[in-house]
Amino acid sequence: MAERVLKMGMVGGGRGAFIGAVHRTAAMLDGGVIFAAGCLSSTPERAIASGEELGLARSRNYPTWRAMLEGELSLPREDRIDFVSIVTPNHVHYEVARAFAEAGIAVVCDKPMTTTSAEAESLVEVVRRSGVVFGVTYNYSGYPLVKQMREMVGAGELGTIRKVVVEYNQGWLAGKLEGTGQKQAAWRTDPAQSGAGGAIGDIGSHAENLATYVTGLPIEAICADLTSFVPGRRLDDDANLLLRFEERGGVQARGVLIASQVEIGHENDLRIRVYGERGSLRWSQEDPNYLVYCADGQPERIYRRGNGYLGASAVSVTRLPPGHPEAFFEAFANIYNAVGRAIREHAGGLEAPAMFDFPGVEEGARGVRFIEQTVESARGTLKWTSMAAASRGDDRR
Ligand SMILES: NC(=O)c1ccc[n+]([C@@H]2O[C@H](COP(=O)([O-])OP(=O)(O)OC[C@H]3O[C@@H](n4cnc5c(N)ncnc54)[C@H](O)[C@@H]3O)[C@@H](O)[C@H]2O)c1
Repeated sequence: MAERVLKMGMVGGGRGAFIGAVHRTAAMLDGGVIFAAGCLSSTPERAIASGEELGLARSRNYPTWRAMLEGELSLPREDRIDFVSIVTPNHVHYEVARAFAEAGIAVVCDKPMTTTSAEAESLVEVVRRSGVVFGVTYNYSGYPLVKQMREMVGAGELGTIRKVVVEYNQGWLAGKLEGTGQKQAAWRTDPAQSGAGGAIGDIGSHAENLATYVTGLPIEAICADLTSFVPGRRLDDDANLLLRFEERGGVQARGVLIASQVEIGHENDLRIRVYGERGSLRWSQEDPNYLVYCADGQPERIYRRGNGYLGASAVSVTRLPPGHPEAFFEAFANIYNAVGRAIREHAGGLEAPAMFDFPGVEEGARGVRFIEQTVESARGTLKWTSMAAASRGDDRR
């Protein structure tokens, strides 16, 4: 029997927006979803104009997200949207996600899930109670070779993990782009819309999720140094962190995490290196169809996406033969497909993400806590031993 086609609604993603179009393309990539309803922009006029441009039916092109929720709930269940995708700036996520989830409609929310951990915990509670399917688009977990890394680490091929180095390097905010009215820069550098984190929230949260997804190791402690290099910027644009992960097998893995938006020359340079007792792996999202594996004492091996020697988790999310690149859209689509399977099988709540392998509300909450704890660590005073103080001590001897 053919799979049931799911109806998608969207909040955000209107004219001139960035990620909404990626979500629509990805959700519909494999034919399991149609775009049925939306409130695509922050003003009613722009929302309606954006929906018209995309061919939404007039009755389901809504001026506000509240009108959308009400309108959809007034439809017979089989006609209403199966899930809503939330692709607004961060500060809008919470109230929209909460309202739809409480109404029993599944949610796909972009990261960071909320702007405070209190809001994030409240969403966990709503999902626990309502049992809806709730996905968070940490899209890098959708790449086949990221799944391959996770499978290899999980199977113990690297031995106990000792060290993780994860970087998200960008340079697009090296100047005061927000001062030019560029929309994406403007809200990302405004604490009221972005939350407590700048670069650490916007891209550091991807690095956190990637490190934990690949290794299965949650971060236990953080020593963070956050800087705003661009004069007048109110949030960090450069973050350098030392990490300690939860202990496994008597070993506490250490980590280094960099998230920067002022590193001129870098575009979306997200990369990860994982070192275990017996081997290492490294992967980069700008060259995502290749994975480097090195076993101790052996030459490097390159795993290439699309080949039969890869594990089941990578093979199952691959569409094209090797050599035809797959990347950003497909990774998002893999998350949408996993969420869609959970919706079709009526398997929501807190268990669904692990069953269907997509990032869920608990990963979303962990990501928000990570941002808050990083900001807290950077504000603390007791974590650095000054080299200058040490040499003054020598002088006194
Ligand atoms: N996963 C990823 O790789 C990724 C990449 C980019 C952005 N994001 C996340 O996606 C979200 C959107 O980012 P963006 O760069 O696309 O932003 P954007 O500014 O380009 O688009 C935001 C859209 O939301 C609309 N909007 C704002 N308030 C609204 C409201 N109350 N109701 C309806 N629509 C409203 C705006 O009009 C706009 O169309 C952010 O949370 C961001 O962190 C994730």
